[in-house]
Amino acid sequence: MVGSARLHRSLTRQMSILVTGGAGFIGANFVLDWLAGHDEPVINLDKLTYAGNLENLASLQGNAKHIFVRGDIGDAVLVDKLLTEHCPRAIINFAAESHVDRSIHGPGEFIQTNIVGTFHLLESVRAYWGTLEGQAKRRFRFLHVSTDEVYGSLTNDAPAFSETNRYEPNSPYSASKAASDHLVRAYYHTYGLPVLTTNCSNNYGPFQFPEKLIPLCILNALAGKPLPIYGDGLQVRDWLYVNDHCRAIGLVLEGGLVGETYNIGGKSEKTNLDVVRTLCDSLDELAPPATCHLPRTTYRSLITFVKDRPGHDRRYAINATKLERELGWRPQETFETGLRKTVAWYLENQSWVANVTSGAYRHWIDKHYSS
Ligand code: NAD
Ligand code: DAU
Repeated sequence: MVGSARLHRSLTRQMSILVTGGAGFIGANFVLDWLAGHDEPVINLDKLTYAGNLENLASLQGNAKHIFVRGDIGDAVLVDKLLTEHCPRAIINFAAESHVDRSIHGPGEFIQTNIVGTFHLLESVRAYWGTLEGQAKRRFRFLHVSTDEVYGSLTNDAPAFSETNRYEPNSPYSASKAASDHLVRAYYHTYGLPVLTTNCSNNYGPFQFPEKLIPLCILNALAGKPLPIYGDGLQVRDWLYVNDHCRAIGLVLEGGLVGETYNIGGKSEKTNLDVVRTLCDSLDELAPPATCHLPRTTYRSLITFVKDRPGHDRRYAINATKLERELGWRPQETFETGLRKTVAWYLENQSWVANVTSGAYRHWIDKHYSS
């Protein structure tokens, strides 16, 4: 009787998920999508660094299924308490320092959160998972959200990254993500922790902090400022609309094989110059320069070549056939449809833009682009 009551309690209490970094760009999109399609509550643990923004989650105000907790993934006392209190059936780890340029200016925070923070989180999760029993233990998952940058740089004619590619990270950011991926892998092989890892290409869409190429260029263009292209602008990235990434994470969480990694990408390789030109064309149509009182006929005239990023990876490309074959995932947006939606979102959300581009943001832009 006591045993069955305990089992019943663990089965009913496990029906929630814990998301880390859910006030950032991808995490917030994931939480919003999840709660739009599921009844299952989300515990959202986020430190609210410069990149975390509760405004991204404003539409969830008053929604009892969203439990926001401000805190660090490396705070073992807090994480242990959350795990004991809420008994989540899964954890999805988005929390990270995510901007390559910032990792070049100051790698310390990247080591701290992406490596040390992930280590502490894994330790707490391992201890928690050890207390689960039966079905709750078998069904538990830890999904680690990672990046294609861990594979390093491709030449123009090399095949796209597959899950078996060697790790060759080149920036402090990608090296810190690679280290966290290795820790996750080790916790599976050594302790049997049921982990899943996803490695995704460049995301874009609503709520992306405007230090990254696409939102930076949208906002600069509307303000009549230069659109900074590093080096020759011929570096290639694969682009994926953020909701397609979130859907892939949901599928991997429910159907992925424990211990496996899954590449996620949009089959949409573009040079940075092409990305910014397409973005200018979208803006020319949706917000013609004349309506912004700018003395030019196309935003393309704002494109400006600037000093290259040190150690700049030349090309990333993703082979996502494993995810397509095993879990039936396909991106729903093309680059053109996704970019149009994104431009429209930034045009319609000027107060969000105004709030995130206050003080600290301007300080970063001045420091980084001053030369
Ligand atoms: P982001 O920088 O927009 O958001 C990161 C979030 O993590 C923020 O809300 C921040 O407050 C939070 N955070 C940072 N340190 C924390 C800590 N110690 N404890 C708790 N919370 C903390 O990043 P994003 O672009 O949304 O990326 C999310 C994840 O996806 C990252 O792990 C990133 O490496 C990975 N990823 C990003 C992309 C991309 O194109 N943006 C592509 C592939 C993978
Ligand atoms: O590939 C996945 C990665 O994509 C994620 O892991 C990272 O978290 C995410 O930030 C992103 O990294 P990138 O370095 O590719 O993103 P970013 O938007 O900073 O740059 C995209 C490309 O545009 C890159 O080749 C550098 C270039 N760029 C960027 C900025 C900010 C410019 O040419 N000018 C700029 O001002």
